[in-house]
Amino acid sequence: MDAAEWDRKYEGRELVYGEAPNATLVEVATALERGRALDLASGQGRNAIWLATRGWTVDAVDFSSVALTRANDVASSAPRSVHERLTWVHADVTQLSTEPNYDLVLMFYLHLPPNERQKAVSVAVSALKPDGILMILGHHSANIDSGVGGPQEAEILYTPEDLASDIGTRLTILTAENRYRDVTGGTAIDALLLASRPPLGSEPDRG
Ligand SMILES: C[S@@+](CC[C@H](N)C(=O)[O-])C[C@H]1O[C@@H](n2cnc3c(N)ncnc32)[C@H](O)[C@@H]1O
Repeated sequence: MDAAEWDRKYEGRELVYGEAPNATLVEVATALERGRALDLASGQGRNAIWLATRGWTVDAVDFSSVALTRANDVASSAPRSVHERLTWVHADVTQLSTEPNYDLVLMFYLHLPPNERQKAVSVAVSALKPDGILMILGHHSANIDSGVGGPQEAEILYTPEDLASDIGTRLTILTAENRYRDVTGGTAIDALLLASRPPLGSEPDRG
């Protein structure tokens, strides 16, 4: 789907993915020290806003201006300190140029053809500070046959192994596993990848 199609999807009154943050994000990020986060393909901001309420400073990027406007509206009902920690960025995440400024980079339910996904993963990797954590979550390839919901085009789904392969040796893989969610009609299967950028000084000494 291109940006115009996403804009149309977001045009209704309802929050398409609800207001609550993703449960796996809550599980993982609750254990992290707060810092700067980058939310790639942030949609209507459910995860970015939750992180900001936990004290994170968040840059949230999406190519749907309709989604970002709604995200900003939702955030404006939060306390001003929360609102002020959020920056909404209208951009294509495959084209973004970022500095390695972030302690946490999220890419949740972004489904692109593999070559485009690999560009987005590279953007995510290069945005991480030393010790920074990358968290990617999305509909698993097995979800079409064995799960529920999500896109039904095999090409844009992935496995944790696909994500690990996209990253290669650039980061240390911490977790690459399937996750299961109870949803209306059954169980949805997700692919989860957590990886970290090695700390400064840990690269091999090349003389
Ligand atoms: C399924 S939604 C997920 C939104 C959010 N991550 C969440 O979990 O609630 C996918 C989002 O990716 C955005 N998106 C898709 N391709 C994109 C691209 N190339 N650059 C920026 N955003 C993109 C869409 O606009 C949409 O908001």
